[in-house]
Amino acid sequence: MSEKFYITTPIYYPSDKLHIGHTYCTVATDTMARYKRMQGCEVMFLTGTDEHGQKIEDKAREAGVTPQQFVDNIVEGPKGVKDLWKLMNVSYDRFIRTTDDYHVAAIQKIFRQMYDKGDIYKGTYKGKYCTPCESFWTESQLVDGKCPDCGRPVVDAEEEAYFFKLSKYSDRIRDLLENTDFLQPRSRVNEMIHNFIDPGLEDLCVSRTSFQWGIPVDFDPGHVVYVWIDALSNYITALGFQNGRYDDYAKFWPADVHFVGKEIVRFHSIIWPAMLMSLDQPLPKHVYGHGWLLLDGGKMSKSKGNVVDPYLLAQRYSADALRFFLLRSFPFGSDGNFSNELLIQTINTDLANDLGNLVSRTTAMAEKYFAGTLPAGQRADEALDGELTALASGLRDKYEEAMERYQFQDALSAVFQVIGRANKYIDENAPWALAKDMDANGPRLARVLYNLLETIRISAVLLTPFIPDTCAKIFDQVGACEGCRTWDSAKVWGSLSAAVTVKKGENLFPRIDMEKELAELEEAEAAAKKAALPAVEIEPAVEEPVDFDTFCKSDFRAVKVKACEAVKKSEKLLKFTLDDGTGTDRQILSGIHKFYEPEDLVGKTLVAIVNLPPRKMMGQVSSGMLLSAVHKEHGEEKLNLIMVDDAIPAGAKLC
Ligand code: MSP
Repeated sequence: MSEKFYITTPIYYPSDKLHIGHTYCTVATDTMARYKRMQGCEVMFLTGTDEHGQKIEDKAREAGVTPQQFVDNIVEGPKGVKDLWKLMNVSYDRFIRTTDDYHVAAIQKIFRQMYDKGDIYKGTYKGKYCTPCESFWTESQLVDGKCPDCGRPVVDAEEEAYFFKLSKYSDRIRDLLENTDFLQPRSRVNEMIHNFIDPGLEDLCVSRTSFQWGIPVDFDPGHVVYVWIDALSNYITALGFQNGRYDDYAKFWPADVHFVGKEIVRFHSIIWPAMLMSLDQPLPKHVYGHGWLLLDGGKMSKSKGNVVDPYLLAQRYSADALRFFLLRSFPFGSDGNFSNELLIQTINTDLANDLGNLVSRTTAMAEKYFAGTLPAGQRADEALDGELTALASGLRDKYEEAMERYQFQDALSAVFQVIGRANKYIDENAPWALAKDMDANGPRLARVLYNLLETIRISAVLLTPFIPDTCAKIFDQVGACEGCRTWDSAKVWGSLSAAVTVKKGENLFPRIDMEKELAELEEAEAAAKKAALPAVEIEPAVEEPVDFDTFCKSDFRAVKVKACEAVKKSEKLLKFTLDDGTGTDRQILSGIHKFYEPEDLVGKTLVAIVNLPPRKMMGQVSSGMLLSAVHKEHGEEKLNLIMVDDAIPAGAKLC
């Protein structure tokens, strides 16, 4: 029977469209899942969305839709979470949504099971709450009085709530963290021990009554289950724990590894194991806390407005280029600074120059010198070939050692070291010089090209989990049969038949002109940002009521524009001379030059409020205010003066 491998990503909050930071973890998980499948494992790769909580409830209200409609749109809608994973070639086996019925029912059972065991009890919650993070904090955990995760202000909260006896599991968790390799990289262990275990674990508030968008506690309606209890359990409900929708819990649990970002390591390495201990279930084998992608030194986040759109980049450079960049440029356990320059430079150096060139030079030479098919009679030269063949033959072991540690960057470095060596091998053997005397050197030239094709083939097998589309093209170009594309064959030098036929294809990664591209990319990003803004945005209604008598004191009149001109030295102001029906001209100044040319307004009938106290603007008196309608289109302010029927006489009262 084949080995099982269960790997997960965090389930994403569908509170906004996902950015490239989210893509990072999913691409890493996908690469690991593909690698394990290639090795012959039976893989379960789970991802999904974490759809409950106050933040979603608030966002849905702002958008004027129900929370379910709101999350449906971000998960299933155009350019939503599922679309993004499709675009990025993410080969998940299962997708869980925490609003799925089976998950909801299972969470209620899980909550009750922990309650029946005596691990959940009722009390009063008093403390601090960070709404954006949906996290409760004790006073001592705050940093400068703010949320230790995101640095935003917290609010006082007090309510009747259920608590989970986290403190009961403190010693077992300490032992798990200190004495096993459960949490990786090791540096994260010290953080957890120092920040949470040493100060003493407090019981955790696991229900809320102040909002509704969550899973109700079935034996105490009015309480909804704390989102993290709901979310963490996805890893087992998605396999059928406490539900009949799936039945592979016994097969896949415990998970081999949960990949998670560093800010949610606390939940996965303390709360999650404690929950499983309470449920008497085995613990996952590993939790790996990866670093963040930073932009200008800070964490990318939608609320900070500094996010990079993976759609734009994948459509411009291909999913493979983006996948490769993410795992090649940053060590998985540490933070990394994202920049467009680094992205383009990585594509140019590794993919266009080193890999792309090697493939295109080798296949072009095989076509040019041998019409595409190498002759079987070849002459090896140990002194010249030995280093390259040894490196390529030993590559799989090196790569595997790095992949087993989740060190994607090291695995890729090993492959690119061999690719670099192969490019040097071309220069050392100068095929073009050998080709000058084919009678004498033909067999040697054939061997040189064969060695290059074999090196490319082995590299492509190992690159497949990272850049699957590109590797399929490479295999076709170098004439690799099915059996030459496998994990086993990556260890066997000479898998390609000697009389192999190549088929040169188009350039895998055309070189990008850095300066030109950076400028175009900036423009495209600005346009995409604008397009992503709501088409029409209107100001929310003022909820505070105004009493009728106060309202009636405002005197609105129809006024006719007799003259209109720009105010000197002001970019914004227009000066109106108006007929308000009194027989004396009224002057009003209005900051609307951006929206109207003065001459276009002469003769129009507008609406003014005329009993405002006069005020001075740029040395001129303004007696009243013209009414206009304002809104935003794609983030840009729009203004339309209220114009009424010209049949209405100047001075007519509007009521
Ligand atoms: N819903 C929770 C996870 C629950 S798992 C039981 C959550 N969702 S999230 O959408 O906010 O984040 C999902 C993952 O994306 C997290 O692992 C987070 O660390 C990761 N990232 C979000 N921004 C990131 C970067 N800028 N860089 C790298 N990863 C980042 O947390």
